[in-house]
Amino acid sequence: MVNFFTMPRSLLLRCILTLVSSLSVLGDADSAQRDGAPPSKIAIIGAGIGGTATAHFLRQHFGPEVRIDVFENGTVGGRLATVTVNHQEYETGGSIIHSLNLHMQDFVKQLGLKHRRSVAGKTAVFNGEEFILEETDWYLLDLFRLWWHYGISFIRLQMWVEEIMEKFMRIYKYQAHGYAFSSVEELLSSLGGSGFLNMTRRSLSESLLELGVSQRFIDEVIAPIMRVNYGQNISIPAFVGAVSLAGAQANLWSVEGGNKLVCLGLLKLAKANLIQAQVTTISPHTTGETSQYQLNYEGPMEKGWELYDIVVVATPLQDSVGATISFQGFEPELPAVGGSYHHTVASIVHGYLNCSYFGFPDPKVFPFASVLTTDNPELFFNSVGCVCPVNISASFRRKQAQEAGVYKVFSQQRLGKPELKTIFKSYYSVQVTDWQAYPHYGSGQGLPPVVLHDGLYYLNGIEWAGSAMEMSSVAAKNIALLAYHRWNRQLEMIDQKDLMHKIKTEL
Ligand SMILES: Cc1cc2nc3c(=O)[nH]c(=O)nc-3n(C[C@H](O)[C@H](O)[C@H](O)COP(=O)(O)OP(=O)(O)OC[C@H]3O[C@@H](n4cnc5c(N)ncnc54)[C@H](O)[C@@H]3O)c2cc1C
Ligand SMILES: *[C@@H]1O[C@H](CO)[C@@H](O)[C@H](O)[C@H]1NC(C)=O
Ligand SMILES: *[C@@H]1O[C@H](CO)[C@@H](O)[C@H](O)[C@H]1NC(C)=O
Ligand SMILES: *[C@@H]1O[C@H](CO)[C@@H](O)[C@H](O)[C@H]1NC(C)=O
Ligand SMILES: *[C@@H]1O[C@H](CO)[C@@H](O)[C@H](O)[C@H]1NC(C)=O
Ligand SMILES: *[C@@H]1O[C@H](CO)[C@@H](O)[C@H](O)[C@H]1NC(C)=O
Repeated sequence: MVNFFTMPRSLLLRCILTLVSSLSVLGDADSAQRDGAPPSKIAIIGAGIGGTATAHFLRQHFGPEVRIDVFENGTVGGRLATVTVNHQEYETGGSIIHSLNLHMQDFVKQLGLKHRRSVAGKTAVFNGEEFILEETDWYLLDLFRLWWHYGISFIRLQMWVEEIMEKFMRIYKYQAHGYAFSSVEELLSSLGGSGFLNMTRRSLSESLLELGVSQRFIDEVIAPIMRVNYGQNISIPAFVGAVSLAGAQANLWSVEGGNKLVCLGLLKLAKANLIQAQVTTISPHTTGETSQYQLNYEGPMEKGWELYDIVVVATPLQDSVGATISFQGFEPELPAVGGSYHHTVASIVHGYLNCSYFGFPDPKVFPFASVLTTDNPELFFNSVGCVCPVNISASFRRKQAQEAGVYKVFSQQRLGKPELKTIFKSYYSVQVTDWQAYPHYGSGQGLPPVVLHDGLYYLNGIEWAGSAMEMSSVAAKNIALLAYHRWNRQLEMIDQKDLMHKIKTEL
């Protein structure tokens, strides 16, 4: 046994070089005879939660030998990002995680990260003139009030969301048993049959009306939740609507230190190489029996190309989003990915709220931490809320409306000075992030494919069913399983029907 620590430097270097060259010889032999041998190189494009979770799951399935390169053109975390105000960081993109988002829970646990303490605060709905719905201190009173106001609608809605959640959670069982799906349609229908597929095609309002939820409840409660979560109206598909409503329940959390820490942690855990570069083209590359993909990339530090056995695209492929990737030399051509992404502008404002605008001339009695809005065309913002920093100390308390605080405003367009001066009495700073946030739903768009080519996969199609951190994580686990089974020709693990029954008899 050689002891690396006591060896002279030069000898150590020679030892490592020999090791490296013998490994690469092995690697070449492997890729020449593909059957039974693991892939030697995998590329992932995008280091958001989707790409980094894919790296982690691919490492779990393919083992320690395979090289995993993750290309990132911007910042690790992607749509999970923070901005700094007064030496404190605040989430500007994806912020809220549901307690039943089991992959996110698992990542945080494995990475030794912590849930951020939640600080109580009340929510209200503003229609442009007055508050039409206010949360009180007392939960039971709220229930009675909603009951009184909207009758049976509230209970019907609750049951509907719970039933969908329960079915959706079957995915964790299927994935734990190693089952994979070759398309988003297969995945959804294995969870909720044709009912789930129909929910990606029908509008939320139509589905809720059919359920017996009142128009008034839809306008005053549902629409404001869709506006704050997806910046869109009640015409969005019922499935993403349900995802969004689940995200409006109790039991929400975020990651202490910022959600993007999960992405950084997963990259490390996966022992993946981060390459700070933009992937510009992907093309098939076949030599004899082996088919690989050539990736061309450009970065400030490096520019070049590399061959990979498996490639996962973990960023939206719509032309308007991110850094465009071109697919060249595919016969037949790869299908174009249609649709567009919805703009949502997040403005983090440090200043004094103009409580008069909300009908409270005395800021000392303004009781709300977040304000949602109805779908009123006169309103120039979707929501405004007092936000907590990503690190919360034990002594932290929310700022009162008469104090200077940090607020997050979501709007469809960038806010001009007159608009800022309407919501805020005065402000010290404004930091704007113009997100290509989530799909612009409801253009009759189908669900994009997961398998683009033999060893080429696309993660972000799942966003057209629903865009959330957990959805990207579910897609990441699915692609890792799918790539693994397809590589090893274990086709019986893909698109199996009647999984509920199969899993029961397997146990
Ligand atoms: C304002 C806002 C609020 C949200 N709120 C929530 C919420 O509360 N809860 C929730 O669960 N979800 C929320 N979401 C949605 C959630 O943030 C996203 O669904 C999720 O972060 C998507 O992750 P991803 O890894 O799939 O994509 P991304 O995070 O977009 O990652 C893709 C990465 O690929 C990189 N890239 C692109 N092209 C290239 C290229 N050619 N070469 C190299 N790299 C490239 C990009 O720079 C980017 O970092 C919100 C989103 C926004 C914008
Ligand atoms: C990604 O790459 C493009 C083209 O090189 C560049 O214009 C853009 O600013 C980059 N995006 C980020 C977030 O760095
Ligand atoms: C979904 O839609 C199809 C076609 O409209 C219909 O036949 C089917 O019954 C629907 N499924 C459910 C569960 O409603
Ligand atoms: C919702 O918004 C879309 C455009 O994004 C619009 O076509 C549609 O009419 C709106 N629906 C309602 C009910 O306001
Ligand atoms: C914030 O929290 C993270 C995660 O717990 C920790 O690593 C970091 O040091 C904290 N930062 C500050 C300024 O307290
Ligand atoms: C605050 O709101 C009031 C009432 O809408 C409005 O008159 C005033 O111009 C707003 N702005 C400031 C800076 O007070």
